[in-house]
Amino acid sequence: MHRKAEILTPRVEGKPTICVTAVDVFGFESVAEQGLATVSVVCEPDENLSFHVNSQLKHYILQDYLSAWLPIMGSFADTLTYVDCFAGTGICDFNGTLADGSPLVALRTINRFLREAPPTVRRPSKVNVVFVEVKPERHGQLEAAIHKFAEAEQLDNRISCSVLRDDAQSALSQILPQTSPTAPAFYFIDPNYRLPDMKLMRQLISRKKTEVFANFMFYEIVRNMANPLDNENMIALFGDDQYQTIDFGAGSDHYAWSKVIDFYAMRTGAQYYIPFQVCFGPDENARLQGRIKYALIHLSNHFTAFDKMLTAMHKNSEPGNSLRVSLGPTLFPTLDDNELTNRVETKYQRTGIRIPFDVLRKENWRFYASEKSWRHCLKDLMKKKLVQFHPVSSKRHGAVSGDDIVEFLKE
Ligand SMILES: C[S@@+](CC[C@H](N)C(=O)[O-])C[C@H]1O[C@@H](n2cnc3c(N)ncnc32)[C@H](O)[C@@H]1O
Repeated sequence: MHRKAEILTPRVEGKPTICVTAVDVFGFESVAEQGLATVSVVCEPDENLSFHVNSQLKHYILQDYLSAWLPIMGSFADTLTYVDCFAGTGICDFNGTLADGSPLVALRTINRFLREAPPTVRRPSKVNVVFVEVKPERHGQLEAAIHKFAEAEQLDNRISCSVLRDDAQSALSQILPQTSPTAPAFYFIDPNYRLPDMKLMRQLISRKKTEVFANFMFYEIVRNMANPLDNENMIALFGDDQYQTIDFGAGSDHYAWSKVIDFYAMRTGAQYYIPFQVCFGPDENARLQGRIKYALIHLSNHFTAFDKMLTAMHKNSEPGNSLRVSLGPTLFPTLDDNELTNRVETKYQRTGIRIPFDVLRKENWRFYASEKSWRHCLKDLMKKKLVQFHPVSSKRHGAVSGDDIVEFLKE
């Protein structure tokens, strides 16, 4: 993989500011009071969560995406909410190397944005950060890790952070009524096995500015889909028992990943979704290597959110338009540039359609093609004299972006 060197090290840029602050890191109103544990536990290295190398990809995607989400949402909203529903201990052990877990990845990114963005960038006046962890000892470790972080990094006082010792499902049911349905919110949901009930997922996604980044444990789930003992779990996951009547097969595969993920994602009601496949890695069971372990699914209702997440995912996948990470350096492209050109040509050539560049990308979001690939594809078609660009956003001749009109020539 092209960023292999980074995989085992935390992506911490710059020096942390050392300062002891009196910031209340558990200040998220009544949710915190209900769920807060009082135990103070020292981080024992052997209690850290152990991860396989491919798992760190989700942290990179999370960090890259939040770095784009914060200034966009902060440009108009006063309060932002970030929730990590299966938070873990705050520290991960990647084959013996310790790195930030998802709570510290997020907190560091939010803190850095609030403290270090240029003065011209508008910031929200409050960022509510909520972490949920059910296991008491892990919850204690997480509290300790966050206290340590807050002391070492000078936590910005616009951050209000709660660490709840609770079950994700019950925590979400409490958080939802306490957050504005119209305010921007981001939910990271990274369970060991099953995601919260579909009913709750639908409630989250029904909020226009709420996004979910969920870890769908594909391998474990399809292994249990036909198991009657797991019926209740599956019904909660998919919303009802309709999954039992669907043919998810394709070729020799009983459960084709795209059919299962499409079925799940569509049921959430999200307008856009992106599945990013993560395979069993080189440090896992040799028998399973190369098979899909889980899919990170981003669910949203806004094209900009979709587009920014697509960029973060492409950046963290293999070169060549892949939305998949497999065995270290192996490349599994899902749609390469030539394939995109062929599809666009088939769909639009000689139609005479005139369409803004961004609208074209939006209409064809299921291609999961990066902006760069779209540009590449359209320039190819221009060389073939199949399209012409009419500048609106671009100043430079031959460039294409934003509102520029793409015309698929009739003749
Ligand atoms: C995959 S780990 C999370 C890793 C973390 N998101 C990270 O990337 O650093 C899942 C965590 O969820 C916790 N957990 C399991 N069931 C839970 C539940 N029902 N509610 C909240 N947390 C739960 C586990 O104890 C475990 O620490």
